[in-house]
Amino acid sequence: MVDARWVEESVLEVDGVRFRGWPWVALGSTVDEFVIGKTAEATNAIIDLINSLKPQRIVEVGTHEGGSAALLALLARPQRLVTFDINPVPPQALVELAETRGLTDVIRVYGDVSQDDISRVLEVVGSEIDGPLDLVIDDASHAYGKTWLTFQTLFPLVRPGGLYVIEDWCSEHRMVTDVSELLAGELGTGTAELGPWVTRVLTHHVEGNLELDSSERRPLESVVHDGSAVDQFTPAMAEILLYRYSADPVQFVARMEEEVSALDEQFGAVDRLVRLAGDLLELKANGDEVCEWLGFDGEMILVRRGPADLAAGELRLGA
Ligand SMILES: C[S@@+](CC[C@H](N)C(=O)[O-])C[C@H]1O[C@@H](n2cnc3c(N)ncnc32)[C@H](O)[C@@H]1O
Repeated sequence: MVDARWVEESVLEVDGVRFRGWPWVALGSTVDEFVIGKTAEATNAIIDLINSLKPQRIVEVGTHEGGSAALLALLARPQRLVTFDINPVPPQALVELAETRGLTDVIRVYGDVSQDDISRVLEVVGSEIDGPLDLVIDDASHAYGKTWLTFQTLFPLVRPGGLYVIEDWCSEHRMVTDVSELLAGELGTGTAELGPWVTRVLTHHVEGNLELDSSERRPLESVVHDGSAVDQFTPAMAEILLYRYSADPVQFVARMEEEVSALDEQFGAVDRLVRLAGDLLELKANGDEVCEWLGFDGEMILVRRGPADLAAGELRLGA
């Protein structure tokens, strides 16, 4: 087993490569030091999972700076690891790691692949991996519809006993709750009144239909860069919403209502990722054939594949 040890708070070392975790995710990766978009707890959970499952055929959805893919490749020593991202350019550090460690046949990196482009996802995975998958980790859009679509597509390709992991399933939910509470304090109103609108604004934001403009983005970027993002992200988001929708409670709700209705009309109503937990519980409630075991922790949903024969895309919501 490859040794993984924490050498500093939030810095992990594996096989001579350092991994700097959340909150340093906004920095870039180098071949000696990768940033990884995970908290230390989530990284430890992945290490445990790798040590127990020993996956040989891995698919990662959401490469970012290549940190988690590099960690998976060095820890699991898989036969093949396919990682893809909507970003067109694969992270140079990961490409370099593969080259310098003789792992170009193991680490296969694809840019410009959106997780909801089902035919492209199947083409990439099918061309790279022969046989059933041991592990899929979806750490990409964290948007409900896209995450479900990818699950529907790739879960059937997982071998019985293999795992499908969905990361950050409740972080948006927690942020909505915390932001609603903060705003209610600022505006002197009830969270019940604000909650549904904050939920829909932030969900549209996660789905990418509600872009922050550059003046709004700056407070968020600065909290990420000064390394205190975990504590400051939520207040910064609340500040942005206050700035955008005014500090008057009645106006605030009215303006959100207006904007969200327009977005719903243009892009369709969106759902929070946390709803996926309900769908998966329903899947599990049908028995052990499709989903042998379902587990949740504070960061991940883990779904262990049962023995049912399934074709890609065969799963249905509420099936
Ligand atoms: C949280 S980061 C991934 C972090 C990485 N797995 C790690 O732990 O170091 C999310 C990544 O998902 C990508 N992403 C967002 N929407 C996507 C989509 N629709 N399809 C594929 N990738 C997407 C983003 O570009 C971003 O690089």
